Amino acid sequence: MKFRTMLMAGAAALAATGFSGAGSAADQKEVQMLHWWTSGGEAAALNSIREALAKEGYGWRDVPVVGGGGGAAMTTLKAAVAAGNPPTASQILGYYAIDYAEDGKLADISALAQKGGWAKVIPAALQKFTTTDGKWDAVPINIHSVNWIWVNKALMDKIGGTEPKNFDEFVALLDKAKKAGVIPLALGGQPWQEATMFDSIVASTGGAGFYKKAFIDLDDSALKSDTMKKSFDNLARLRDYLDPNYAGRDWNLATAMVIKGDALVQVMGDWAKGEFNAAKKEAGKDYLCYRFPGTDGAVIYNTDMFAFFKVSADRQAAQVALAEATMDPAVQSAFNVLKGSVPARMDVPDTAFDMCGKKGIAEVKAANEKGTFMGSMAENYAQPPAIATAYYDVVTKFLHGEIKTSDQAVTELDKAINAAK
Ligand code: BGC
Repeated sequence: MKFRTMLMAGAAALAATGFSGAGSAADQKEVQMLHWWTSGGEAAALNSIREALAKEGYGWRDVPVVGGGGGAAMTTLKAAVAAGNPPTASQILGYYAIDYAEDGKLADISALAQKGGWAKVIPAALQKFTTTDGKWDAVPINIHSVNWIWVNKALMDKIGGTEPKNFDEFVALLDKAKKAGVIPLALGGQPWQEATMFDSIVASTGGAGFYKKAFIDLDDSALKSDTMKKSFDNLARLRDYLDPNYAGRDWNLATAMVIKGDALVQVMGDWAKGEFNAAKKEAGKDYLCYRFPGTDGAVIYNTDMFAFFKVSADRQAAQVALAEATMDPAVQSAFNVLKGSVPARMDVPDTAFDMCGKKGIAEVKAANEKGTFMGSMAENYAQPPAIATAYYDVVTKFLHGEIKTSDQAVTELDKAINAAK
């Protein structure tokens, strides 16, 4: 079916479920989109959706809210929704979507989902966030994962480094770089980035089973365990390998350090790969992508979803158009090649992807089957925002020395999480 025909059918199907007015002459031919995709790689990826909509005659009103990880965007969105002025759609993470859905703020796009057979192609883990009581209210464009490291290949060759397979080998590699006069670890010292890195450290220190017990199940004994203490010890070991200017640095500037050869490695979700793409760097030749050492087989994910709010009838056709474009396999392929992520649809071929992209796609599928596909705590896919915020707070205070020992960090983490529950 041609996109236009699908769109009309989609509009009609939605109208049948109370999503009325779609497809009428008075429709606003504009998609207003709130997002935090302001880096080079992110903007390039977003453009592929914008172009798909332009072909359908839709204009684009960009509502960018600067700030990696989306914290600032979520605050802006909250204000817009409270003022009764939600955008056509908003980029959103995990439990934030669940909160809006439970508040009755989201539209029902189930008819479109049924027609498109989305339930069959989107992993069940993601559907927890895109549906409420079986009704679809959001669409996932991708699957990111946080447990990656990005390495400058020329520097790696220069220092004679090899892929680290566990945390100790990672530290040994960073040490080698330091001795060679290279900045070992490019970190952006912002709470969400530090917490994103700590997700990987916990999975590496305790294994996938421990990560799940602690962060998904919030098992008190795991949160208070020696393994959690050791995870903080491991985080502390990385302090020696940061440059003096890391505090407050944006994530994409940390990526740029690796791209330019100013630092050996960054621990970051695969949105970092979007920056390598935008800088025309080639996987395997200019940079290397490894799973965070000691987390092979586990995929700690987050997915970028577009949530559809309840809007007036004349704005609903634009929601349909955006939902259809987002779920189009060709758009998912184009977007994710640029973004560095994996298509949310499991039926999108990996043909257009480079070696890191192919690896990501295969690993998501394998982890999904093995039960090691786990939501990121830092990215709001393991727990609701209040708990994630408590987590950021403890990790940051520890890394910056406000919480002095790993013992104290474990006590504080358990306390903060229980208080936020
Ligand atoms: C989003 C990514 C984004 C990253 C940095 C994450 O929360 O899922 O799409 O690139 O933040 O802004």
